[in-house]
Amino acid sequence: MFQKLKKRWGVNNLNLVLIICTFAIGGSLCGKAGAKFLELTNLDKGILWWLAYILSVTILWPLFVLAISIPLGQFVFFKNYLKKVWERISGRHKATIQVAIFASGAGSNAQKIIDYFKMKTSVKIALIVCNNPAAGVIEIAKCEGIPYIIINNQQFFNGDHYLQLLKEHKISFIVLAGFLWKIPVSIINSFPNKIVNIHPALLPKFGGKGMYGNHVHQAIIDKKETESGITIHYVDEWYDHGKSICQITCPVEIDETAESLAKKIHLLEHQYYPKTIAALLKKLK
Ligand code: GRF
Repeated sequence: MFQKLKKRWGVNNLNLVLIICTFAIGGSLCGKAGAKFLELTNLDKGILWWLAYILSVTILWPLFVLAISIPLGQFVFFKNYLKKVWERISGRHKATIQVAIFASGAGSNAQKIIDYFKMKTSVKIALIVCNNPAAGVIEIAKCEGIPYIIINNQQFFNGDHYLQLLKEHKISFIVLAGFLWKIPVSIINSFPNKIVNIHPALLPKFGGKGMYGNHVHQAIIDKKETESGITIHYVDEWYDHGKSICQITCPVEIDETAESLAKKIHLLEHQYYPKTIAALLKKLK
């Protein structure tokens, strides 16, 4: 049960304990406060008393839980949690945007994106698409309980088999996170300005076919560049070519290696990709 909650809320062991403590302390304090409040009303402990008690506890509970969450460092979690509960009960729940992540490798970016959107009601990572059965991202999909498909070269580049599948999963936005195959025109045309990619360099430099992973970082070091970074861009029918959405830079030190640069770039990607996607999705609504 605890494993399920950790996964669902995207939290670690310590946060889970602190969240449970917040629920317990907030809940019992609010129960006591509700009873104290009713002492002031002189109501007899009958049906009316219980109705008033339930009402006051319902009103006080979010306030108590939020107040307790602050010293326990769980305010952001509870702010999102209460927002979610409120959206559900008030019927203000906006249509959820279903997102597919296409990835071919370890999937560290995919994991960050999944974690970022876990507590958001308006966005759901609904599908992982991968071309490599041995990729780490498949394990992530299994672990997170997200449906995944392993695509086949022939079907991907010919016909509209996968386009249909994306439609069946009600996908309206595609995120490429280390996906090494070119996206077929049929998919690009069906998702205009709704497919984004992240590239581990400052495009238009160091992009194009074969420019992935450490090949990019090594090329940057060989060219004695003093700056690198990430580019988040829309996807068109050419590799690493679509309109740029944002670029974040970082310095390349004199003794930099492809590995050390890759680490720096990954940190930037993890920090900026999820929130850039969130900003784009907000505009879609
Ligand atoms: C990232 O560096 C990304 O920029 C590139 O592929 C890499 C994927 O890494 N397109 P990971 O699989 O998300 O760890």
